[in-house]
Amino acid sequence: MELKEMIGRRRSVRAYEKQPLEESQLAEIRAFMAKAVPLDASIAVHAEILDKAHVTLLQKWDAPHYISVCSEDRPGWLENVGFMFQQVDLYLQSQSLGSCWVGMGWPDESLVPSGMKHAILMPFGKPKSVPERTCAEDFRRKAMGEIADYPDDRLEAARLAPSACNSQPWYFVHAGENVLHVYREELNVIKRRMLGKYNPMDVGIALAHLMLTNESFAFRREKDPPLKDGFIYMGTVELN
Ligand SMILES: Cc1cc2nc3c(=O)[nH]c(=O)nc-3n(C[C@H](O)[C@H](O)[C@H](O)COP(=O)(O)O)c2cc1C
Repeated sequence: MELKEMIGRRRSVRAYEKQPLEESQLAEIRAFMAKAVPLDASIAVHAEILDKAHVTLLQKWDAPHYISVCSEDRPGWLENVGFMFQQVDLYLQSQSLGSCWVGMGWPDESLVPSGMKHAILMPFGKPKSVPERTCAEDFRRKAMGEIADYPDDRLEAARLAPSACNSQPWYFVHAGENVLHVYREELNVIKRRMLGKYNPMDVGIALAHLMLTNESFAFRREKDPPLKDGFIYMGTVELN
């Protein structure tokens, strides 16, 4: 199944069979990760597959495998990680595997390459009887009117994107038929502590969905950012 077809079917999986996957399947996943499209190719990213012995988790559930993603900490690093690894999330689910973004978990410190920071974990494995979603109604998401200045079918894929605590921080403002400014909600101090790191990643995830569902996708940051009250400018996309 094509990655874009998984946008309307994927879900976070939090119950896994214990047995590890075959090494050949792990090799295919590594090969896919190596060719994930970046949002900013100048930012170095390192990803590896770890087992449970090398991660610390706050949650009670676990999985046989964990992708640990580390990156250079440069402007745009979190959006870039979100953009790249949402492609991996969709790939895993297209292979009938389960996966979930996990912020509340960390790899052994010795496994974070020097000059990089840990960004996120993505547990994966064979899901324990998780039904696939089949339609948009299966998603608990904001309405189109809450994420854009006016309804635009091209934004449906972004609307369905996963986000930390399902916060769905993205907001799109049209600057022309095919040009949209992308914002995220400005958080209060308390929410910032919880979601501050993850909301830029969430925007990258939503942008990955736009890249996969549009014939052409280009992203840039305007030198003179267009301001919007209560929102933080993330960039501008051009779709076709
Ligand atoms: C950046 C990010 C961090 C997340 N961290 C966690 C986490 O620590 N634990 C968890 O159980 N789910 C986590 N999630 C999963 C979200 O809760 C989930 O994507 C959201 O509720 C929407 O549900 P869905 O993925 O099933 O569509 C995270 C998601 C994202 C995008």
